Amino acid sequence: MSTPLPKDRRIALLTSGGDAPGMNAAIRAATAFCLSEGYEVLGVRNGYRGLLRGEFRTLTMADVGGILRDGGTMLGSARCLEMHQQAARDDARRHLASANVGGLIIIGGNGSLTGAMALTDPSEAPDMPFAVVGIPASIDNDIGLTGMAIGVDTAMNTIVEACDKISDTASAHDRTFIVEVMGRDCGYLAMTAAIAAGADAVLFREAQKTPDEVVELIAKTVVRARVRAGRPQRVLVIKSEGTPLRNDDLKTRVDARLVELLGEAGPPVETRVTVLGHVVRGGRPSAFDRLLASRLAHVAVRALLAGETGKMAGWMLPLTSELPPEIGQRSQSDPYCNLIELAAVIDETRRLLDGTSTLTKWRRDIFARIEDVLSL
Ligand code: F6P
Repeated sequence: MSTPLPKDRRIALLTSGGDAPGMNAAIRAATAFCLSEGYEVLGVRNGYRGLLRGEFRTLTMADVGGILRDGGTMLGSARCLEMHQQAARDDARRHLASANVGGLIIIGGNGSLTGAMALTDPSEAPDMPFAVVGIPASIDNDIGLTGMAIGVDTAMNTIVEACDKISDTASAHDRTFIVEVMGRDCGYLAMTAAIAAGADAVLFREAQKTPDEVVELIAKTVVRARVRAGRPQRVLVIKSEGTPLRNDDLKTRVDARLVELLGEAGPPVETRVTVLGHVVRGGRPSAFDRLLASRLAHVAVRALLAGETGKMAGWMLPLTSELPPEIGQRSQSDPYCNLIELAAVIDETRRLLDGTSTLTKWRRDIFARIEDVLSL
């Protein structure tokens, strides 16, 4: 039986890892729900790095009232390798205890949620004086057991908008553009943006193509585009940054292969590479990200107040409608959300990234099957 959080304890909010549009919406909603229940709220500055230094600030509605539409995170974020060490986690627990924090909400990606789980490790802290609940936020959508993470939708929209612009100039010159998008270990953004932007081909690490196969795919796509009657011959290829081939090598090899296929005297083929980089991580959150962040924050706060710990508030799941009880349960506060064991999240995240997850296999298979359709 979980014990509800006593009213005299405080709730702390922390954003960690790569920022994601919508983190601010989650901070705002979590603050509002905690205050409305009579709990004091603290923000931790700069993620775990700030937590290790005890950098807290009180949050009121005046602080968070206007942040809903802002990208980034008002609390600051950081990647903090020190959290891999128990001594650092002990420091973090000490700071939380001396600030009378009874509940901590961690908004972030894989590394951040791994840190959250380590903080609640009973072998390190047998009389755990506070509860921890995570909220998934990462533009890469690389977190297991949540259909979406905060920031993904905005990032996808940013990519599609950029690709639409690139398509205009590519069509005007009959050029081939390779557009690289973020997604270090997970090609979700590249895959979904390719569909939404009408790309002719998509490259991502999980497809497990060799460099020769990647070059062949692009060259074949360009050759097909050359015979598309009555249409611009622009070719748009979206490449996830995790694809194991450097952009300059890729361009050189594609151009060389096209000369082989089309001949020196054939129509000129001009390949350009555009790296969208951190542009994809910024900007105002989409309506969906604001909604997702607010709903996940609501579920996370309700869970903390009810005395839950070691869980993640997750969005609807792909591939399954029922959750085994050892993995999690449907949230009582929102039928679109679940409360999932952090340990299960970390395990499934590992499988998503190493390619053994059913979801990763489905993504790989479906894109193999539609490869020829994309370039029609
Ligand atoms: O937040 C995830 C991510 O955007 C990855 O897609 C990317 O590889 C990485 O962060 C970049 O991290 P940094 O901002 O620390 O360079």
